[in-house]
Amino acid sequence: MNPFMFHTPSRIYFGEETSLTAPDLMREIGGSKVLIITDDVLVKTGLMAPIIDAFKNDGNFEVTVFSDVPPDSDVKCVGSATAVGRGQGCDCILSIGGGSVLDTAKAVAICLTFGGNLEEYQGLNNLSTKLLPHIAIPTTSGTGSEVSMVAMIKDSAERKKLLFGSRFIAPDTAILDPKLLVTLPPKLTAATGLDAVTHAIEAFTSLSTVSVFTDVLCIEALKLLFKWLPIATKSGDDLDARANTLVASTMAGIAFTNTGVGVVHALAHATGGEFGTHHGMTNSVFLPHGMSFNMDAAGDRYAEIARQLKFTENSNNEIAAKTLIDKVEELASSINLPRRLRDMGVPALDGQGVEDLANIASTDPAIMFNPKEATIEDIIGIYERAY
Ligand SMILES: NC(=O)c1ccc[n+]([C@@H]2O[C@H](COP(=O)([O-])OP(=O)(O)OC[C@H]3O[C@@H](n4cnc5c(N)ncnc54)[C@H](O)[C@@H]3O)[C@@H](O)[C@H]2O)c1
Ligand SMILES: [Fe+2]
Repeated sequence: MNPFMFHTPSRIYFGEETSLTAPDLMREIGGSKVLIITDDVLVKTGLMAPIIDAFKNDGNFEVTVFSDVPPDSDVKCVGSATAVGRGQGCDCILSIGGGSVLDTAKAVAICLTFGGNLEEYQGLNNLSTKLLPHIAIPTTSGTGSEVSMVAMIKDSAERKKLLFGSRFIAPDTAILDPKLLVTLPPKLTAATGLDAVTHAIEAFTSLSTVSVFTDVLCIEALKLLFKWLPIATKSGDDLDARANTLVASTMAGIAFTNTGVGVVHALAHATGGEFGTHHGMTNSVFLPHGMSFNMDAAGDRYAEIARQLKFTENSNNEIAAKTLIDKVEELASSINLPRRLRDMGVPALDGQGVEDLANIASTDPAIMFNPKEATIEDIIGIYERAY
């Protein structure tokens, strides 16, 4: 067995209405002036009110709410939320939302803890100590941000995503409450679910510290996602489907945050940064093409997944690996995800445009862990096949 390191810093609570125990859990980790970070869509759904009330009624907290987080949050939003938190003297954070909200909260935690400009801390392992207490409550089942040791924040001026990676970024506590996902529309359920599928597949085939711990998480997450994602997409109020996809997405999050991801994520980050496409949806389009590109390096591992998920009993690895790619395509089509970039509103790029995008993808940190090297020409090839 190869040497490895496996680490998961966040405590995880799962259960219907566990979100209402957030004040008790916050007391355990410290802080009394809580900055609640969320977005306006969630406030309008009515999901936020009982959680905010739980803090107010507890009697031990001063509560400040910041709800201006846009999808694919950016440096400017982090600055505004930090100013609000600093102005109110907030000493702990509760984030409730999708990956955009959770990543914003992680970045705000960096700024409130260390001061200065967010950009100073970008990259890997640039934080020296623990951040202020943070509880994260995901309302999408895809990103795994509630347990991951990274945050992605858009630099709108540069039209690219900045990565912040450190073990101190992971929230102290993740609360998985499936009831909070019943309002998530089918398209976002499908798209975020494919983000989780991509995490599990790229983590399983990563060049980095793959271990038996991450393998088990990836396989179990994929079993749950292939079974329950179509049900969660079709019947959003099916709490079993919400619970299983939510747990799966957190499992895939723990896996990928230990192993890194790959070329599919590198291309999704570049395309999302440039055209504002949804992260999970963009991954879903690139995934089969990225897998086909990686076949010669990762085919045996794809075959292992296909056999473990009982998609095939064929002992020929190439055939079994292709079965997995077909199953991914089938899953994405069955839940009505667009299958080409052009169907997601990505404009046709000229030669220089594709090359610029490929250059951005080639410097994205995700690409470091792809099972084989991807040249600019390779990345352009994947992009063109996905277009
Ligand atoms: N840090 C990580 O580990 C990590 C991993 C993957 C992706 N990401 C980042 O996460 C972001 C994407 O997050 P996402 O896919 O969760 O989408 P999102 O957070 O951008 O949310 C998409 C939309 O869904 C709405 N929404 C969320 N929950 C809802 C609910 N329960 N009911 C109704 N509407 C709801 C939001 O208001 C928003 O309009 C990207 O910025 C991506 O880069 C981070
Ligand atoms: Fe992702």
